[in-house]
Amino acid sequence: MSTMNSGALTPNVLEVENLQIVARIAGHDYIAIDNISFSVAQGHARGLVGESGSGKSLTLRAIMGLLPSNVRVTSGVIKFQGQDLLADNGKYRKQVLGTGLSMVFQEPSVALNSVMKIGKQITDSLMQHSDLNRKQARERAIDLMDQVGIRDASKRVDDFPFQLSGGMKQRVMIAAAIACGPELILCDEPTTALDVTIQAQIIELFKKLRSELKVSLLYVTHDIGVVAELCDAISVMYSGRIVEQADDINKVFSNPRHPYTKALLGAIPRIDGPIKRLKGLDSTGPSLTQRSQESAPPMTNIEPGWQVAPFEFADLDVIWSASSHE
Ligand SMILES: Nc1ncnc2c1ncn2[C@@H]1O[C@H](COP(=O)(O)OP(=O)(O)O)[C@@H](O)[C@H]1O
Ligand SMILES: [Mg+2]
Repeated sequence: MSTMNSGALTPNVLEVENLQIVARIAGHDYIAIDNISFSVAQGHARGLVGESGSGKSLTLRAIMGLLPSNVRVTSGVIKFQGQDLLADNGKYRKQVLGTGLSMVFQEPSVALNSVMKIGKQITDSLMQHSDLNRKQARERAIDLMDQVGIRDASKRVDDFPFQLSGGMKQRVMIAAAIACGPELILCDEPTTALDVTIQAQIIELFKKLRSELKVSLLYVTHDIGVVAELCDAISVMYSGRIVEQADDINKVFSNPRHPYTKALLGAIPRIDGPIKRLKGLDSTGPSLTQRSQESAPPMTNIEPGWQVAPFEFADLDVIWSASSHE
Protein backbone atom coordinates (compact mmCIF):
# COMPACT_ATOMS: atom_id res chain seq x y z
CA MET A 1 0.00 0.00 0.00
CA SER A 2 1.46 3.32 -0.86
CA THR A 3 0.55 6.39 1.10
CA MET A 4 -0.49 9.67 -0.45
CA ASN A 5 0.26 13.08 0.87
CA SER A 6 -2.33 15.77 1.30
CA GLY A 7 -0.82 18.16 -1.22
CA ALA A 8 -1.02 15.64 -4.04
CA LEU A 9 1.33 17.85 -6.03
CA THR A 10 4.09 17.69 -3.45
CA PRO A 11 6.46 14.85 -4.32
CA ASN A 12 7.56 12.47 -1.58
CA VAL A 13 11.19 12.59 -0.60
CA LEU A 14 10.81 9.28 1.26
CA GLU A 15 8.45 6.38 0.68
CA VAL A 16 8.41 3.31 2.88
CA GLU A 17 6.22 0.55 1.53
CA ASN A 18 5.24 -2.64 3.32
CA LEU A 19 8.40 -2.73 5.35
CA GLN A 20 8.94 -5.82 7.43
CA ILE A 21 11.87 -6.24 9.81
CA VAL A 22 12.74 -9.42 11.65
CA ALA A 23 15.03 -9.90 14.66
CA ARG A 24 16.76 -13.17 15.40
CA ILE A 25 16.71 -13.96 19.10
CA ALA A 26 18.08 -17.22 20.50
CA GLY A 27 17.79 -18.99 17.17
CA HIS A 28 14.25 -17.81 16.39
CA ASP A 29 12.99 -15.07 14.10
CA TYR A 30 10.53 -12.55 15.51
CA ILE A 31 8.71 -9.80 13.64
CA ALA A 32 9.92 -6.44 14.91
CA ILE A 33 8.36 -4.21 12.26
CA ASP A 34 5.24 -5.53 10.62
CA ASN A 35 4.27 -4.27 7.22
CA ILE A 36 4.46 -0.51 7.72
CA SER A 37 4.01 2.09 4.97
CA PHE A 38 4.39 5.84 5.19
CA SER A 39 5.89 8.74 3.28
CA VAL A 40 7.52 12.09 3.91
CA ALA A 41 6.52 14.81 1.48
CA GLN A 42 9.14 17.24 0.23
CA GLY A 43 9.63 20.01 2.78
CA HIS A 44 7.26 18.38 5.27
CA ALA A 45 7.87 16.84 8.69
CA ARG A 46 6.35 13.54 9.74
CA GLY A 47 6.30 12.64 13.39
CA LEU A 48 6.74 8.95 14.13
CA VAL A 49 5.41 8.56 17.63
CA GLY A 50 5.06 5.59 19.96
CA GLU A 51 6.20 4.28 23.28
CA SER A 52 9.54 2.68 23.93
CA GLY A 53 9.97 -0.60 22.05
CA SER A 54 7.35 0.18 19.40
CA GLY A 55 9.95 0.05 16.63
CA LYS A 56 10.79 3.67 15.90
CA SER A 57 14.56 3.35 16.01
CA LEU A 58 14.64 0.14 13.97
CA THR A 59 12.58 1.90 11.30
CA LEU A 60 15.09 4.77 11.09
CA ARG A 61 18.04 2.40 11.19
CA ALA A 62 16.58 0.37 8.34
CA ILE A 63 16.41 3.54 6.26
CA MET A 64 20.02 4.42 7.11
CA GLY A 65 21.26 0.84 6.66
CA LEU A 66 22.37 0.72 10.29
CA LEU A 67 20.45 -2.29 11.63
CA PRO A 68 22.06 -4.45 14.33
CA SER A 69 23.64 -7.62 12.96
CA ASN A 70 20.82 -9.91 14.17
CA VAL A 71 18.12 -7.71 12.62
CA ARG A 72 17.21 -7.66 8.93
CA VAL A 73 14.69 -6.29 6.46
CA THR A 74 12.71 -9.25 5.12
CA SER A 75 10.45 -7.40 2.71
CA GLY A 76 9.39 -3.97 1.57
CA VAL A 77 10.72 -1.00 -0.30
CA ILE A 78 12.38 2.16 1.02
CA LYS A 79 12.49 4.81 -1.67
CA PHE A 80 14.50 7.98 -1.32
CA GLN A 81 13.81 10.49 -4.11
CA GLY A 82 12.00 7.70 -5.93
CA GLN A 83 14.89 5.22 -5.87
CA ASP A 84 15.06 2.09 -3.70
CA LEU A 85 17.65 2.30 -0.93
CA LEU A 86 17.52 -1.46 -0.41
CA ALA A 87 18.41 -2.30 -4.01
CA ASP A 88 21.85 -2.58 -5.66
CA ASN A 89 23.63 -3.70 -2.48
CA GLY A 90 23.22 -0.29 -0.92
CA LYS A 91 25.23 1.51 -3.61
CA TYR A 92 22.61 4.23 -4.05
CA ARG A 93 22.27 4.56 -0.28
CA LYS A 94 26.00 5.09 0.06
CA GLN A 95 25.75 7.84 -2.50
CA VAL A 96 22.99 9.73 -0.66
CA LEU A 97 24.09 9.20 2.96
CA GLY A 98 25.38 12.45 4.38
CA THR A 99 24.50 14.45 1.29
CA GLY A 100 20.82 13.79 0.65
CA LEU A 101 19.97 11.94 3.81
CA SER A 102 21.35 12.38 7.32
CA MET A 103 20.47 11.46 10.86
CA VAL A 104 20.52 13.00 14.32
CA PHE A 105 20.70 10.48 17.16
CA GLN A 106 19.24 10.50 20.64
CA GLU A 107 22.53 10.59 22.53
CA PRO A 108 24.95 13.20 21.19
CA SER A 109 27.66 11.98 23.59
CA VAL A 110 27.54 8.55 22.02
CA ALA A 111 27.25 9.79 18.45
CA LEU A 112 30.15 12.25 18.70
CA ASN A 113 33.74 11.08 18.73
CA SER A 114 35.02 12.13 22.17
CA VAL A 115 38.67 12.47 21.13
CA MET A 116 38.07 14.61 18.04
CA LYS A 117 37.62 18.39 18.03
CA ILE A 118 34.05 19.25 17.20
CA GLY A 119 34.99 21.37 14.19
CA LYS A 120 36.80 18.43 12.66
CA GLN A 121 33.72 16.22 13.13
CA ILE A 122 31.85 18.64 10.91
CA THR A 123 34.65 19.32 8.41
CA ASP A 124 35.38 15.63 7.83
CA SER A 125 31.93 15.07 6.44
CA LEU A 126 32.12 18.33 4.44
CA MET A 127 35.45 17.43 2.86
CA GLN A 128 34.28 13.93 2.06
CA HIS A 129 31.26 15.19 0.17
CA SER A 130 32.50 18.44 -1.42
CA ASP A 131 35.64 19.85 -2.94
CA LEU A 132 36.23 22.32 -0.12
CA ASN A 133 39.80 22.39 1.18
CA ARG A 134 40.51 22.20 4.92
CA LYS A 135 40.52 25.96 5.43
CA GLN A 136 37.25 26.46 3.53
CA ALA A 137 35.66 23.54 5.33
CA ARG A 138 36.66 25.07 8.67
CA GLU A 139 35.06 28.39 7.68
CA ARG A 140 31.93 26.55 6.64
CA ALA A 141 31.90 24.58 9.91
CA ILE A 142 32.02 27.86 11.85
CA ASP A 143 29.13 29.21 9.76
CA LEU A 144 27.14 26.05 10.43
CA MET A 145 27.83 26.19 14.15
CA ASP A 146 26.65 29.78 14.09
CA GLN A 147 23.52 28.74 12.21
CA VAL A 148 22.61 26.14 14.84
CA GLY A 149 23.03 28.69 17.62
CA ILE A 150 26.49 27.94 19.02
CA ARG A 151 27.89 31.23 20.29
CA ASP A 152 31.57 32.10 19.72
CA ALA A 153 31.66 29.44 17.05
CA SER A 154 35.12 30.49 15.85
CA LYS A 155 36.49 29.62 19.31
CA ARG A 156 34.33 26.59 20.06
CA VAL A 157 35.29 24.95 16.78
CA ASP A 158 38.47 23.72 18.50
CA ASP A 159 36.71 22.37 21.60
CA PHE A 160 36.38 18.67 22.34
CA PRO A 161 32.90 17.24 23.00
CA PHE A 162 33.51 16.99 26.79
CA GLN A 163 33.87 20.78 26.91
CA LEU A 164 30.29 21.21 25.71
CA SER A 165 26.94 20.81 27.45
CA GLY A 166 24.47 18.18 26.21
CA GLY A 167 22.44 20.79 24.35
CA MET A 168 25.54 22.20 22.63
CA LYS A 169 26.66 18.71 21.64
CA GLN A 170 23.27 18.10 20.07
CA ARG A 171 23.65 21.39 18.16
CA VAL A 172 27.00 20.12 16.85
CA MET A 173 25.31 16.91 15.70
CA ILE A 174 22.67 18.96 13.95
CA ALA A 175 25.34 21.14 12.32
CA ALA A 176 27.01 17.97 11.03
CA ALA A 177 23.65 16.66 9.81
CA ILE A 178 22.89 19.80 7.78
CA ALA A 179 26.48 20.34 6.59
CA CYS A 180 25.99 18.89 3.13
CA GLY A 181 22.52 20.29 2.54
CA PRO A 182 20.43 17.14 2.96
CA GLU A 183 16.87 16.80 1.65
CA LEU A 184 15.78 14.73 4.62
CA ILE A 185 16.98 14.45 8.21
CA LEU A 186 15.99 11.45 10.30
CA CYS A 187 15.76 12.46 13.95
CA ASP A 188 15.74 9.77 16.62
CA GLU A 189 14.45 11.40 19.82
CA PRO A 190 17.05 14.14 19.50
CA THR A 191 15.90 15.94 22.64
CA THR A 192 15.14 13.03 24.95
CA ALA A 193 18.53 13.16 26.66
CA LEU A 194 18.25 16.92 27.29
CA ASP A 195 16.54 18.87 30.03
CA VAL A 196 13.23 20.56 29.32
CA THR A 197 14.47 24.11 28.61
CA ILE A 198 17.15 22.85 26.25
CA GLN A 199 14.62 20.53 24.59
CA ALA A 200 12.45 23.52 23.76
CA GLN A 201 15.44 25.35 22.25
CA ILE A 202 16.37 22.40 20.06
CA ILE A 203 12.77 22.10 18.83
CA GLU A 204 12.89 25.82 17.97
CA LEU A 205 16.12 25.14 16.08
CA PHE A 206 14.48 22.37 14.05
CA LYS A 207 11.60 24.72 13.25
CA LYS A 208 14.05 27.34 12.06
CA LEU A 209 15.95 24.85 9.92
CA ARG A 210 12.70 23.65 8.40
CA SER A 211 11.75 27.11 7.26
CA GLU A 212 15.23 28.30 6.29
CA LEU A 213 16.57 25.18 4.59
CA LYS A 214 13.24 23.67 3.48
CA VAL A 215 14.58 20.40 4.77
CA SER A 216 12.18 17.49 5.31
CA LEU A 217 12.10 15.68 8.65
CA LEU A 218 11.17 12.23 9.84
CA TYR A 219 11.00 12.96 13.53
CA VAL A 220 10.87 10.11 16.02
CA THR A 221 9.68 10.82 19.53
CA HIS A 222 7.59 9.34 22.33
CA ASP A 223 6.34 12.87 23.05
CA ILE A 224 3.21 13.68 21.10
CA GLY A 225 3.46 17.31 22.23
CA VAL A 226 6.66 17.65 20.19
CA VAL A 227 4.89 16.22 17.15
CA ALA A 228 2.09 18.75 17.62
CA GLU A 229 4.59 21.57 17.63
CA LEU A 230 6.90 20.53 14.84
CA CYS A 231 5.19 18.20 12.39
CA ASP A 232 2.59 18.32 9.58
CA ALA A 233 2.07 14.57 9.33
CA ILE A 234 1.90 11.85 11.94
CA SER A 235 2.29 8.08 12.18
CA VAL A 236 1.44 6.44 15.48
CA MET A 237 3.30 3.19 16.15
CA TYR A 238 2.41 0.47 18.56
CA SER A 239 4.14 -2.86 18.89
CA GLY A 240 5.89 -2.81 15.52
CA ARG A 241 2.85 -1.59 13.60
CA ILE A 242 1.41 1.73 12.55
CA VAL A 243 -2.01 1.99 14.17
CA GLU A 244 -3.02 5.34 12.71
CA GLN A 245 -1.47 7.93 10.43
CA ALA A 246 -2.42 11.09 8.61
CA ASP A 247 -0.70 13.51 6.30
CA ASP A 248 -2.58 16.26 8.10
CA ILE A 249 -1.83 16.01 11.77
CA ASN A 250 -4.88 18.12 12.67
CA LYS A 251 -7.21 15.34 11.60
CA VAL A 252 -5.70 12.93 14.06
CA PHE A 253 -5.52 15.52 16.81
CA SER A 254 -9.11 16.63 16.47
CA ASN A 255 -10.67 13.24 15.80
CA PRO A 256 -8.38 10.30 16.60
CA ARG A 257 -9.85 7.00 15.41
CA HIS A 258 -7.69 4.33 16.92
CA PRO A 259 -8.04 3.78 20.68
CA TYR A 260 -4.28 3.84 21.05
CA THR A 261 -4.06 7.26 19.40
CA LYS A 262 -6.77 8.44 21.75
CA ALA A 263 -4.75 7.14 24.66
CA LEU A 264 -1.66 9.00 23.48
CA LEU A 265 -3.58 12.22 23.00
CA GLY A 266 -5.08 11.88 26.44
CA ALA A 267 -1.55 12.08 27.75
CA ILE A 268 -1.14 15.71 26.70
CA PRO A 269 -1.58 17.91 29.75
CA ARG A 270 -4.55 20.23 29.21
CA ILE A 271 -4.88 23.72 30.58
CA ASP A 272 -8.65 23.48 30.58
CA GLY A 273 -8.97 20.26 32.52
CA PRO A 274 -7.26 17.83 34.82
CA ILE A 275 -3.89 16.60 33.68
CA LYS A 276 -4.27 13.09 32.38
CA ARG A 277 -1.20 11.03 31.84
CA LEU A 278 -0.87 7.47 30.73
CA LYS A 279 1.90 5.39 32.14
CA GLY A 280 2.22 3.79 28.75
CA LEU A 281 4.06 6.75 27.26
CA ASP A 282 7.10 6.19 29.38
CA SER A 283 6.76 2.46 29.51
CA THR A 284 7.46 -0.31 27.08
CA GLY A 285 4.91 -2.28 25.07
CA PRO A 286 5.00 -6.05 24.63
CA SER A 287 8.41 -7.48 23.84
CA LEU A 288 9.08 -9.05 20.46
CA THR A 289 8.77 -12.57 21.79
CA GLN A 290 5.34 -11.82 23.29
CA ARG A 291 3.84 -10.39 20.14
CA SER A 292 1.51 -12.01 17.69
CA GLN A 293 3.53 -13.50 14.85
CA GLU A 294 0.64 -13.18 12.43
CA SER A 295 0.98 -10.53 9.78
CA ALA A 296 -0.97 -7.34 10.42
CA PRO A 297 -4.24 -6.86 8.51
CA PRO A 298 -4.12 -3.94 6.06
CA MET A 299 -5.04 -0.46 7.24
CA THR A 300 -8.32 1.16 6.26
CA ASN A 301 -8.47 4.48 4.44
CA ILE A 302 -10.67 6.86 6.37
CA GLU A 303 -10.05 9.33 3.58
CA PRO A 304 -7.09 9.91 1.27
CA GLY A 305 -4.02 10.51 3.41
CA TRP A 306 -5.56 9.18 6.63
CA GLN A 307 -5.43 5.53 7.64
CA VAL A 308 -6.31 3.52 10.67
CA ALA A 309 -5.45 -0.07 11.53
CA PRO A 310 -8.36 -2.38 12.31
CA PHE A 311 -8.59 -3.15 16.00
CA GLU A 312 -10.32 -5.72 18.11
CA PHE A 313 -11.17 -5.53 21.73
CA ALA A 314 -8.59 -8.22 22.46
CA ASP A 315 -5.88 -5.87 21.12
CA LEU A 316 -7.20 -3.11 23.31
CA ASP A 317 -6.72 -5.14 26.46
CA VAL A 318 -3.06 -5.40 25.60
CA ILE A 319 -2.86 -1.70 24.88
CA TRP A 320 -4.67 -0.70 28.06
CA SER A 321 -2.58 -2.94 30.23
CA ALA A 322 0.54 -1.43 28.74
CA SER A 323 -0.73 2.11 29.26
CA SER A 324 -2.97 2.04 32.29
CA HIS A 325 -4.24 5.26 33.80
CA GLU A 326 -2.50 6.67 36.80
N1 LIG B 1 19.23 -6.07 18.08
C1 LIG B 1 18.03 -6.43 18.54
N2 LIG B 1 17.75 -7.73 18.82
C2 LIG B 1 16.55 -8.10 19.27
N3 LIG B 1 15.53 -7.26 19.47
C3 LIG B 1 15.74 -5.96 19.23
C4 LIG B 1 17.00 -5.46 18.76
N4 LIG B 1 16.91 -4.13 18.61
C5 LIG B 1 15.67 -3.79 18.98
N5 LIG B 1 14.97 -4.89 19.34
C6 LIG B 1 13.56 -4.93 19.80
O1 LIG B 1 12.75 -4.42 18.76
C7 LIG B 1 11.70 -3.65 19.29
C8 LIG B 1 11.76 -2.25 18.69
O2 LIG B 1 12.93 -1.60 19.13
P1 LIG B 1 13.23 -0.08 18.81
O3 LIG B 1 13.05 0.17 17.37
O4 LIG B 1 14.55 0.23 19.42
O5 LIG B 1 12.07 0.65 19.64
P2 LIG B 1 11.87 2.21 19.94
O6 LIG B 1 12.93 2.97 19.24
O7 LIG B 1 10.49 2.53 19.47
O8 LIG B 1 11.98 2.32 21.43
C9 LIG B 1 11.85 -3.67 20.80
O9 LIG B 1 11.02 -4.68 21.31
C10 LIG B 1 13.31 -4.01 20.97
O10 LIG B 1 13.52 -4.68 22.20
MG1 LIG C 1 14.39 4.24 20.04
